[in-house]
Amino acid sequence: MAVEIGPVRLKNPVTVASGTFGFGREYAQLFDLSQLGGIFVKGTSLEPRRGNPPQRIYETAAGMLNSIGLQNDGVEAFIAEKLPFLNQFDTQIFVNIVGNRIEEYAELARILDDQPGVAGLEINISCPNVEHGHAEFASDPTATCNVVSAVRRATGKVVIPKLSPNVTDITAFARASEDGGADAVSLINTLVGTAIDVKTRRFRLANVTGGLSGPCIKPIALRMVYQCAQTVSIPVIGIGGISTWTDAVEFLLAGATAIQVGTASFANPLAALEIIDGVEAYLQDNGLNSPSQITGKVERGPVDPVL
Ligand SMILES: Cc1cc2nc3c(=O)[nH]c(=O)nc-3n(C[C@H](O)[C@H](O)[C@H](O)COP(=O)(O)O)c2cc1C
Repeated sequence: MAVEIGPVRLKNPVTVASGTFGFGREYAQLFDLSQLGGIFVKGTSLEPRRGNPPQRIYETAAGMLNSIGLQNDGVEAFIAEKLPFLNQFDTQIFVNIVGNRIEEYAELARILDDQPGVAGLEINISCPNVEHGHAEFASDPTATCNVVSAVRRATGKVVIPKLSPNVTDITAFARASEDGGADAVSLINTLVGTAIDVKTRRFRLANVTGGLSGPCIKPIALRMVYQCAQTVSIPVIGIGGISTWTDAVEFLLAGATAIQVGTASFANPLAALEIIDGVEAYLQDNGLNSPSQITGKVERGPVDPVL
């Protein structure tokens, strides 16, 4: 079941998505985290952030909106309090890093480069870019390339930019990431959405908009993973609405080397474990001995003879 993301070996291709698994403490009460291929921790910034005011979560048809706003205790607290706990488990730890300027990302990378218990950095580029008039790093391929190469220069660890779906052509950002020296790309982050309460005639979220996640975004994520895997030669990590092992196999077939389970863990905290078992059984049933044997192996469907 092992797969490789650059020089990092995951014992299986199933990891958990940033912001949906905290720093592992709550889930560790339910299962042994060593069973996971990897853990992508909550977005971590240089300084602590309080996040957005409530209401910050709203459930939608087949998904949810969130506007947590990257609440976290900052990188020093992560290293002192969260990382030692996570390092008890035999799984790869990836830190999702967030900043407002390129220098903040580079500084986070330098600080985390000294931590042997960190396998890699996932760059959350869906943050306001203070240097470029508050556009996101994720909405300009040149800015994406610049932030990736700054992080690349600051660390020897695996560098994985996480791409936003809120763009016209996501492949341009996958290419910019590869050009910037990324080891892999992960996609997708949430889609911007909103919801309104007709009784009060108010937005459901205090922040007005939030990020849409869950099964409702899976077809979009799958399409984007397919497109990016066709575009770049570095590994693609698929994220978006993956709730069952069949979802995971779809992403592998579309070109993903590994996957992240996100919102599904809220509904079923054991979702990632069930997905590991299901993918393993699928490979066995099909006489295969590695997930890499199905990565990118999707073919065009048969033409319906009636049409
Ligand atoms: C409550 C919540 C918090 C999140 N926080 C982060 C975060 O801190 N950093 C990040 O890169 N993505 C964050 N995400 C996005 C997820 O990691 C994932 O990309 C997205 O939810 C799509 O996957 P899913 O449909 O399987 O949940 C968050 C998602 C949710 C639902």
